[in-house]
Amino acid sequence: MWGGRFGAPPDPRIRAFTRSFPFDRRLVRWDLVGSLAHARMLLEVGVLDRESGEAILQGLAGMLRDVETGALRVEGEDEDVHSWIERTLAERIGEPARRLHTARSRNDQVATTLRLYVREAAERVVEHLLEVVEVWLDQAQEHLETVLPGYTHLQRAQPTTLAHHLLAHAWALLQDADRFRRVHRVSGISPLGAGALATSPYPVRPERTAELLGFEGIFPNSMHAVADRDYVLEALFACAVLQVHLSRWAEEVVLWTTQEFGFASLDDSVAGGSSLMPQKKNPEAAELIRGKAGRAIGALTAVLVALKGLPLTYNSDLQEDKEPLFDALDTVSGSLQAAAVLARGVRYHPDRMRTALHGGFLTATDLADYLVRRGVPFRTAHERAGRAVREAEGRRVELWELPLEVLRSCCPEVGGDVSEVLSPEGSVHARTVAGGPAPHRVVEQLERARAVVEGVRRWRRSCAPPPIYTAYREGRLLAEQL
Ligand code: ARG
Repeated sequence: MWGGRFGAPPDPRIRAFTRSFPFDRRLVRWDLVGSLAHARMLLEVGVLDRESGEAILQGLAGMLRDVETGALRVEGEDEDVHSWIERTLAERIGEPARRLHTARSRNDQVATTLRLYVREAAERVVEHLLEVVEVWLDQAQEHLETVLPGYTHLQRAQPTTLAHHLLAHAWALLQDADRFRRVHRVSGISPLGAGALATSPYPVRPERTAELLGFEGIFPNSMHAVADRDYVLEALFACAVLQVHLSRWAEEVVLWTTQEFGFASLDDSVAGGSSLMPQKKNPEAAELIRGKAGRAIGALTAVLVALKGLPLTYNSDLQEDKEPLFDALDTVSGSLQAAAVLARGVRYHPDRMRTALHGGFLTATDLADYLVRRGVPFRTAHERAGRAVREAEGRRVELWELPLEVLRSCCPEVGGDVSEVLSPEGSVHARTVAGGPAPHRVVEQLERARAVVEGVRRWRRSCAPPPIYTAYREGRLLAEQL
C-alpha cells in the first residue's frame, strides 16, 4: 500500500507489532459503507469517471454483500482492515480499485468508520438497557406494597418498598440511556474529507458524504477531525458508568441471596454450582457483572492516557483506541443481556423482608416526626425518640410494642394514635412526598419511568441506517437521485 518509497520490506516482527488487522477486522462493514459514500461522492463531483466509479461502487457492494452473508472471510496478512478492503477490491475489479483512495487518507477514513461503529453500538446498548429496565419496572408493579428495610451505611435505616428500591436502579440506567444518546449525537460529525490532516485539492464535498452516511454535521477543522477521539472517550465513559450501575445492582443480588439476608433467591437457570460442595448455589452471573466494571473503567483509563500529550494530528497511538473501545462495548452489551435474564430469575421473599423490619427500630424517625407534629422542636424530638429506642432495646421489644405509659415516660406528647405511625407500613404510607415510597407516589413514579422508556424507544426507532447503506440494500447505489 505504501511500498514505493521503501527499499526493503518491514521487519516481520515490526509488522506483526504494528498491524491492527487482527482487531480492526470487525470494522469491515462500516469501512465498506464509508468507502461507498466516498466513492459515490467522488463520482458525483467528477473526480471519478463514470466507468471507474461504477466499477468501484459495484465492487464494494459485492464485497459488503459477501461479508454479510459470510461468503467472504475477512482474513489475510494485511496491515489493517483498510488495506484488506483495497486489496480485495483490486482482486475483484482490477485497476479502478487503485482510484478509490483519491482525496482520502486512512486518517479520516478510520475516524469515519469508528464513528459509524460507535453509533450503531450505542443504539444496540440502549436496546439491551431497556430490556433490563422493563424487567425492573414489571417487578416494581408487583411489589408496590412489599415493605423492606432501606439501608444507609448498610445498616437498617427506614422502611421502604421493593418497588421504590427497584425503581432506584431503573432511574440510574435511564440516565445511562441518556448518556448513550449523547454518545450517538457527538459521534454524528463526519470527518470524511479531512484527508491526512489538511483536506485535499479536489472538489470533494464533505457535506455530501456526511449526508450519505447519516451524519448530522461535518468537521469544522480538518486537523481536529483526524486528531479528535472525544466520541471514543464519551462512549467509554458511558460504558464505565453503566457498568458501575450494573455492578451496584449485582452486588445487591449477591447480598440479598445470601442466607444471612435471604431477601431473594435465584432461579436454578441463573445460578452456578460448586464442583466440590454439593449444596452450593452461587450468584456467578451477578459476580461477573460486578467484576466486569473493572474492565470498563480500565478501558476508559487506557484511552485517556493514550491521548494525553499527543501532538496534533494523527499519531499511531490513536490505533490504541480500538481494543479498549471494543472491549468496553462488548462488556456492557454482554452484561446487559445477562442482567436481563438474571433479573428475571431473581425470586423475592417478602416474608424475609418483613422479618428484617424487626429489631432495627426503623421507625424511630417517624416517632420523632410525630412529636414534631405535636409542637416539639426536631432536635428535642430526636433525643426523646432516641430514649424510646433505648427503652425498647433494653426490653427486647419493637417500638410499637412498648406499653404506652413507657413510651410516654420518654415522649410525654405521645397519644393513643402513635401505634400506626410506628408500624413500617404506616411509615411508608406517610411518606407521600413526590418521589417518595408511598405506594400511590410510586405508581406515579412508575408511570413517569414508563414515559421515559417510551421516549427512549421513540428515539431508537428514529435512528435510521445511513442512506448509502439503505441504497446498497435496495440496489440503488447507481441511482440518479440518492
Ligand atoms: N490502523 C490505523 C488506526 O487504527 C488506521 C489509520 C492508519 N493511518 C496511518 N497514517 N498509519 O488508527
